Amino acid sequence: MFSLYFLFILVPMLTALNDSDYHRMPPLYHLDNFEDCFDEPDAMFCYGEFALVSDEPSELLTMIQEFSANKLHYNHTLLRYGYCMKKTCNEFYNGSKTEVDLRLSFEACSNKTIYNKYKLKTRLTDELDCSKRDRDLPIDYIDIFVGGVCILIIIANIVGSLCDRYLDKGKERVGLRFLYCFSIFRNWKAFVKPPGEGRNPRFKTLNGIHGIRALSMCLVVITHSLACFILLLVNTQLIEEFFQFKIVNMFMNGPLIMQTFFIISSFLLVYIWLCDSETRPLSWSMLPQQIIGRWLRLTPPYALVVGLTGTWFPRLVSGGPLWEKIIYKEARDCRHYWWSHILYINNYLDRTNCMAQAWYMAADTQLYIFGVIIFLLCRTNLTRKVVLSLFFVVGIIVPMAHTYYHNLSGILVPYPETGLNIFVGDPTFEEVFSKGHTNLVGCIIGMGLGYIIYYWQKAGGDPKKFQKYRHLYWSMPFLGILVCFSGFVFFAGGPPLPAYVHVLYAGLQKPAFGLTMATTIAGLVIQFEGLYRPFMEWQPFVYISRLSYSAFLIHIPFIRTDIASILSLQRINIIEKVPKVLTITVGVFIAAFFFCLMIEMPFANLVRELLKKPRTKEQNKETAKETEKIEKENEKDLSETKIEEDGTIVVKM
Ligand SMILES: *[C@@H]1O[C@H](CO)[C@@H](O)[C@H](O)[C@H]1NC(C)=O
Ligand SMILES: *[C@@H]1O[C@H](CO)[C@@H](O)[C@H](O)[C@H]1NC(C)=O
Ligand SMILES: *[C@@H]1O[C@H](CO)[C@@H](O)[C@H](O)[C@H]1NC(C)=O
Ligand SMILES: *[C@@H]1O[C@H](CO)[C@@H](O)[C@H](O)[C@H]1NC(C)=O
Repeated sequence: MFSLYFLFILVPMLTALNDSDYHRMPPLYHLDNFEDCFDEPDAMFCYGEFALVSDEPSELLTMIQEFSANKLHYNHTLLRYGYCMKKTCNEFYNGSKTEVDLRLSFEACSNKTIYNKYKLKTRLTDELDCSKRDRDLPIDYIDIFVGGVCILIIIANIVGSLCDRYLDKGKERVGLRFLYCFSIFRNWKAFVKPPGEGRNPRFKTLNGIHGIRALSMCLVVITHSLACFILLLVNTQLIEEFFQFKIVNMFMNGPLIMQTFFIISSFLLVYIWLCDSETRPLSWSMLPQQIIGRWLRLTPPYALVVGLTGTWFPRLVSGGPLWEKIIYKEARDCRHYWWSHILYINNYLDRTNCMAQAWYMAADTQLYIFGVIIFLLCRTNLTRKVVLSLFFVVGIIVPMAHTYYHNLSGILVPYPETGLNIFVGDPTFEEVFSKGHTNLVGCIIGMGLGYIIYYWQKAGGDPKKFQKYRHLYWSMPFLGILVCFSGFVFFAGGPPLPAYVHVLYAGLQKPAFGLTMATTIAGLVIQFEGLYRPFMEWQPFVYISRLSYSAFLIHIPFIRTDIASILSLQRINIIEKVPKVLTITVGVFIAAFFFCLMIEMPFANLVRELLKKPRTKEQNKETAKETEKIEKENEKDLSETKIEEDGTIVVKM
């Protein structure tokens, strides 16, 4: 019985075509030799995407269309070929470099090659990119500005570190205070500091969250780095077979894991603010303060990455067939739409290629503002219960409504075709996955958890009482994984599922997953068992977790650069690719470490210094004794800001 089930998971569904039929289709990718192309002067390499068409009825085209209708396959009616114009298409290419002429020659050339072999014709889509060997991007002042900022930051790092090391530390003059923010030595110390030190002792109980955050972040980087392997393949069949495995289908609802971050951030928001409110009364003036504080803290590293993506990252790769598609389009959109990132509304602008992963930062900021408003609005127990329940229901209904009206899929699936663009253009991603209001339910669950835990601790709750439930608790993460896995019903084969299944699934998967995740977090904070907590509080996780914002910002440019430097078709072997994924992941975290130490932490320090400055000025007029008192207050303030900062693990995800 068991082995039968096992077979069911491991054995792929039969692909619709046998090998000989599969190879009757034209290959999905083709590239002429990129290096050799440029032996001749004036050479031109064109990479284009064309659809297969046929003037007369074609049995082959029908077969290809049927095969491609399954979204777990590539779309084989859409071929991506790179031709060396002088060599392959010489008879159609007369050296003219206007776009219209190039399109004509490319289409004629692909018409001929495909027609000779397959008796099919081609129609070029919008994607055609012709280039010489190296791209020359003219340097304009945006480039110079961003480059200048980078150089200034590096100088500040060097000078700050040197001053910190060699100057008398006893005298912290005002001017130097800002420079010290950039000291690598100080930031290193802060980076390796054990978590939860020197703060409210209650925050020590939050340490387990670092583990969850670190593990989720690693999963995000690893799965995104798989995108390197679905492009420019010789053996596309392997990927398609891979997608047929039931066990692979089970992981395809993986994007659901992003809910974890929403839950953690709203949980910390409520919990930490409740703890704070014991010493500092709540007032509406906190709303702008907190929002501006958060904006100042998160934006500098983020803006720098947007700026670099629009200016200098494209220059890391000198050229190549995919340069325009993978790198240039993103750079172009970042130059146009950078403001939407600075305002954190980029997830409501569809179809921009600029930092598609940043939908999370925007959605999280929107939910943060929402959470703060709800928190300040609902000060009594009753209003909290009513309002949170209300929004919980709203949070379930909204994704359902979107799914119903736009006829979307119940889950976001990384199909071979959509995975490439990090879902840009995927309707489920754009309507339901990436928006703020459609992720409301995660935020509400996190907030509810914050209230429950705070009042439970305040009432002197006894962790021992929960010990008898520990087996149930240990099953929670697995239950969450099961919720993820249940997405495989969408791939079970057979007739397409009725719309109501998609609608129900869209509404219920987030609360179901969210509740298991919230229970897991609750167990870590309550500290009643000795299995998960020591593991999740493991010190290396703390470091990875502290890198998570930086890693999240820079991992996609990393991966894109890697993809864009592919110059010839690759033959994928899944086992061989494991080391590559690991290399990318480790590389991302090493780069994130430097980014964090040199950019993220200095700017966070700087914001803290700036925010406390006005008081320092005032205090100059006061007597020395009072100065001391205020200094102490500032000290407290500082630690509070520090807590806040972790509270917005949020995006510091
Ligand atoms: C593959 O399938 C087609 C029909 O689907 C059949 O005509 C052909 O003989 C098969 N080839 C092999 C090698 O089994
Ligand atoms: C495959 O690509 C063609 C050409 O762009 C398009 O018309 C068709 O709808 C696509 N098929 C699927 C299943 O997406
Ligand atoms: C060849 O070049 C001329 C201009 O130089 C242009 O008008 C013509 O359309 C080109 N022919 C093709 C097939 O591209
Ligand atoms: C290629 O074939 C298609 C379909 O017959 C046709 O519409 C198109 O004009 C052809 N392109 C060239 C450049 O001949």
